[in-house]
Amino acid sequence: MESLKIALTKGRLEQKSVALFETAGYDCENLKNPGRKLLLEAPCRDETAAPLTAVLAKAPDVITYVERGVCDLGVVGKDTIMEYGTRFYEVLDLGFGKCRFALASLPETDFDAPVYKPRVIGTKYPNVTRAWFAKRGEEVETVKIEGSVELAPILGLADGIVDIVETGTTLKENGLVIKTVVAPVSARLIVNLVSMKMKKQEILTFIEIIQDAMAGPKAQ
Ligand code: PRP
Repeated sequence: MESLKIALTKGRLEQKSVALFETAGYDCENLKNPGRKLLLEAPCRDETAAPLTAVLAKAPDVITYVERGVCDLGVVGKDTIMEYGTRFYEVLDLGFGKCRFALASLPETDFDAPVYKPRVIGTKYPNVTRAWFAKRGEEVETVKIEGSVELAPILGLADGIVDIVETGTTLKENGLVIKTVVAPVSARLIVNLVSMKMKKQEILTFIEIIQDAMAGPKAQ
């Protein structure tokens, strides 16, 4: 049977994705020990289900691969989906990788005070940031930061940041506070638009297997 190609987000979501696939009955040995290999086979114990060929990729690349159809499926955070695209089906909230998109700053910064020029926000997510401020009817200037975004208000580069907050430790240890939660975030399963038609049965079986694994062992 032809395999389903799935792009998995490297890093924070990787282990939990692999653990879920393992519970679902996929043999994840290759995925757990990828070495420098980029295409990783994961056969399913249930022989009626298509095997998986997985690639590990950075979050925005997962979106690119699925949108362009070189991968049928992807596992990626809602944060990346909100920032980068929607030309795919978002079929399942996988329930892990839970965190929040938040506007954060030094405690004394007042985002409700009137300003005479646009506020400056440091972020990896300029589209999400602009959309959120636009909804408030407020103009904003975004500065794209690639990592350790918390530095932006501390160094005086920005009034605040829009970033993901998981435990809140990074904010706390750097004297920053959440001002507003912009959106909840978790890992999602996404499907290429054409694959959903051409490989419908294989994909529906995969979704069902994953949903069963998420539901846990059934009571007898
Ligand atoms: C993310 C995010 C925050 C931090 C939040 O960064 O950008 O900095 O995690 O997590 P916490 O609330 O549990 O402290 P990541 O670790 O992915 O690395 P980066 O700063 O290099 O982007």
